Amino acid sequence: MTADLGAQLAAAFDAAVAADERVEPRDWMPEEYRASLVRQMAQHAHSEIIGMQPEANWITRAPSLRRKAILMAKVQDEAGHGLYLYSAAETLGTSRDELLDKLHSGRQKYSSIFNYPTLTWADVGAIGWLVDGAAITNQVPICRCSYGPYARAMVRICKEESFHQRQGFELLMALSQGTEEQHAMAQDAVNRWWWPSLMMFGPPDDESAHSAQSMAWRIKRHSNDELRQRFVDIAVPQAESLGLTLPDPDLKWNEERGHHDFGAIDWAEFWDVLKGNGPCNEQRIGQRRRAHEEGAWVRDAAAAYAQKQAAQQQTAKPAGQNEEARV
Ligand SMILES: [Fe+2]
Ligand SMILES: [Fe+2]
Repeated sequence: MTADLGAQLAAAFDAAVAADERVEPRDWMPEEYRASLVRQMAQHAHSEIIGMQPEANWITRAPSLRRKAILMAKVQDEAGHGLYLYSAAETLGTSRDELLDKLHSGRQKYSSIFNYPTLTWADVGAIGWLVDGAAITNQVPICRCSYGPYARAMVRICKEESFHQRQGFELLMALSQGTEEQHAMAQDAVNRWWWPSLMMFGPPDDESAHSAQSMAWRIKRHSNDELRQRFVDIAVPQAESLGLTLPDPDLKWNEERGHHDFGAIDWAEFWDVLKGNGPCNEQRIGQRRRAHEEGAWVRDAAAAYAQKQAAQQQTAKPAGQNEEARV
């Protein structure tokens, strides 16, 4: 490619993105844009599948058949989200195998929130309400992301996430209005999940490495701090209707700003968990590697089946479109 042509393509790309046009897999794009998207989509996909673990921990101990069925559906949805996102990343030329390998070897991350343990049944409610709630706040703007396949995957994911958020809220409401012990269990879960949920939006804007470029490329639409504030403003009245409190003495409405003020986040804890020192980091990645190894026979069988089908179609065609020849 000549330098001239390169500059023309780059200018056309910038203009298309600025005009809110969608970038599709076959379109020319800067290598940095491609790499940045792969990094973000991979981290997102990894979070979906690792996120299955803390809640799957409670499937066998759900307090009723109804709760068990809901939780199983939710955990399966998260697997599906992982699949949509790995597929969307494949449209950029990066295979699922390669991304999983990076996850398993620690070269790519998943959301740190999933390195916290689920100690009681109420944690399933707190995760649905707060963690899925924070995920929705983060992800709704990605439905307008400049990269088409990512944006389209996100539309469906957000619909399912909003079901997850509501089931968590409803579960916590039942506990909050239940016995004294149940209410205390719900409150304890909210106390433990509140601050890690605020950390899900990532470091403050002035420390966020990728934010400015992602916003210029319209991969991201709002800054970490903006989204975090939006989440706090949504959560406060919801906590009130649940009859639960949020564990922050500095949380109060600021008339001037038209937003809630909230206390300082413990960023040392965030960086420490990210570095691998959270309560469940080793357990989560160990379980993921084991599941991958134990599932090898399923992948082999599926690949062998696909090969056999392809070979049969090849041999069936010369037989003159005879459907029976394929049987
Ligand atoms: Fe999800
Ligand atoms: Fe979810």
